[in-house]
Amino acid sequence: MGKVLVIGAGGQIGTELVIALASKLGKEQVIASDVKSETPSSLQEYQYVQLDVLDKEKLTHLVKEQKVSTIYLLAALLSATAEKHPAFAWQLNMDGLFNVLNLAKEKVIDKIFWPSSIAVFGPTTPKDNTPQRTIMEPTTVYGISKQAGEQWCAYYHEKYGVDVRSIRYPGLISYTSLPGGGTTDYAVDIFYHAKKSGKYTSFLSKDTALPMMYMEDAIRATINLMDAPAENVRIRTSYNISGISFTPKELTKAIQQHIPNFSISYSPDFRQVIADSWPNAIDDTHAKKDWQWEPHFSLEKMVKVMLENVDETKVD
Ligand code: SER
Repeated sequence: MGKVLVIGAGGQIGTELVIALASKLGKEQVIASDVKSETPSSLQEYQYVQLDVLDKEKLTHLVKEQKVSTIYLLAALLSATAEKHPAFAWQLNMDGLFNVLNLAKEKVIDKIFWPSSIAVFGPTTPKDNTPQRTIMEPTTVYGISKQAGEQWCAYYHEKYGVDVRSIRYPGLISYTSLPGGGTTDYAVDIFYHAKKSGKYTSFLSKDTALPMMYMEDAIRATINLMDAPAENVRIRTSYNISGISFTPKELTKAIQQHIPNFSISYSPDFRQVIADSWPNAIDDTHAKKDWQWEPHFSLEKMVKVMLENVDETKVD
């Protein structure tokens, strides 16, 4: 079996995925890469290569030289940042995907993981228990890129036999690495501020329910999907997976169980419109059936672990 390359390893998901894959496969089997020239501090102990996924030549060279057979492509601009840089978001999110899909089409690599998102849904999508297959009219640049990417993944699978697998991640909550540029980031930021000052101003309104998940569940889902026999992976666009769903008000209540004086105020900004276009909670029957997906973290359990572990000195 060849090596595994994680592209975008310095981000919120990548950091934890590299650690999980290295502990499963051995450090020598996993190469972390990111556009940053310096090795991210959390990845000091791992093999690290500076790589821009848009540099097709360097990517191809690295994959061949290192005998990489599986790529996890995590480099992307998230929803809020993509609204500010639409042209670059489209270029990075789409051309990056094509560069990797084409390596599999040319049989240079065997297997790809590519993340999609709840952002593929839009204001016309049923909001509660959103089905796997439903109306998808995304209104963000990020959502459009993920929706198009899903269709390209299914196309490459169908047409060229490419083994590409994908999950529609909900908002992900973790303490190892800060998220960057997402609409769901408030649900991570809030923990740093709760510990640091006991106060937080949310950029989403109090009753905005969104699908969320603790990172450990998301990493387990990713690895389980990649380990599943190919014939069980019946959905080649991207799988809905569901963890927890809560509003800023409900999250505040759960934090107050540990920090009774914690207070929140609300000052919605442009991200409110994005959040309002996304589902409250999504249905993951197919993931449960096809590769036995099961979340382990409740809201209470996630809050406890986050408060125990976030390093509040990392934020201003
Ligand atoms: N967490 C992401 C974002 O908010 C959704 O995929 O952009």
